[in-house]
Amino acid sequence: MRVLGIETSCDETGIAIFDDQNGILAHQLYSQIKLHADYGGVVPELASRDHIRKTLPLIDAALKQAGCQPEDLDGIAYTAGPGLVGALLVGSTIARSLAMAWNKPAIPVHHMEGHLLAPMLEEHVPEFPFIALLVSGGHTLLVRVDGIGQYQILGESIDDAAGEAFDKTAKLLGLDYPGGAALSKLAEQGTPGRFVFPRPMTDRPGLDFSFSGLKTFAANTIRSQGEDDQTRADIAHAFQSAVIDTLAIKCKRALQETHLKRLVIAGGVSANKELRHQLAALMQKLGGEVFYPRPEYCTDNGAMIAYAGMQRLKAGQIADLEISVKPRWSLETLPPVTA
Ligand code: KG4
Ligand code: ZN
Repeated sequence: MRVLGIETSCDETGIAIFDDQNGILAHQLYSQIKLHADYGGVVPELASRDHIRKTLPLIDAALKQAGCQPEDLDGIAYTAGPGLVGALLVGSTIARSLAMAWNKPAIPVHHMEGHLLAPMLEEHVPEFPFIALLVSGGHTLLVRVDGIGQYQILGESIDDAAGEAFDKTAKLLGLDYPGGAALSKLAEQGTPGRFVFPRPMTDRPGLDFSFSGLKTFAANTIRSQGEDDQTRADIAHAFQSAVIDTLAIKCKRALQETHLKRLVIAGGVSANKELRHQLAALMQKLGGEVFYPRPEYCTDNGAMIAYAGMQRLKAGQIADLEISVKPRWSLETLPPVTA
């Protein structure tokens, strides 16, 4: 079976074709980063317009790359939420229209379920149950995963998401939007220990996160210590260490509380090398295993949507005729997929 995946929830147009026998046959991505950089963040209206320009040409390119025709597809999966409403509507409308024209089922996919299942596209896949740490620009979630669609949220950010905190602090350090990866590069030049940032909400029980204070801490440190290159790198290092330590402490707590031994990390921030190192070391210490997608499947992409869509299609969970999107949508409300 083959499913076309369409991702347009934010500032990336991602298109892919997943085949349940042969894996990903095509993977196309267009990033709008340059378009939004001048504004220091995503401008929703510009994002929608750019998705309109790019989605159909990328679908054409994906079909060519996979050497397949529309009739070879068994379904069209699209991100129905959460995300920017206009951007979601572009992908949903195109997906539903093609599904109608090609007489194929359309499958709405939850963006964070896409991220959560992205490690399943790798050779070494985690078995259920496991703990998933989802760290993206819009969400920070710790989830107990007992199967596809069997999600219990154990903790989440009460303010900024981890990626959002990276981006805001990067901006304070004079880096272009989205600055997560650039901040992490700058941190490599930083002197460990020159500055020590707090590890928010780790001194009390619970699995929720709060990252907005770290951005304020960074702003105050920049103000009081100046902005020479070494100081900026030292601040980047201190900020990144605080975020990673905090995430690691909460992952450890979730694993110990649930007695689970497998950890999945996904979402844009999971591309962070230092986070991967630290969580790999943690899992080694705990005698468990860590799983993550390859870097191009960490950030937004069509492959994860095609994969999640395939699982829902096989379970008969397809959309009715109405085109609707869910800008806010809890993972916990998804129906289970039972084997
Ligand atoms: O999952 P994603 O592509 O989009 C959302 O669903 O939000 O995540 C994007 C986020 C941005 O905040 C970006 O700065 C962050 O992931 N990010 C990183 C790295 N690469 C991307 N943050 C820290 N280190 C990285 N290497
Ligand atoms: Zn995402």
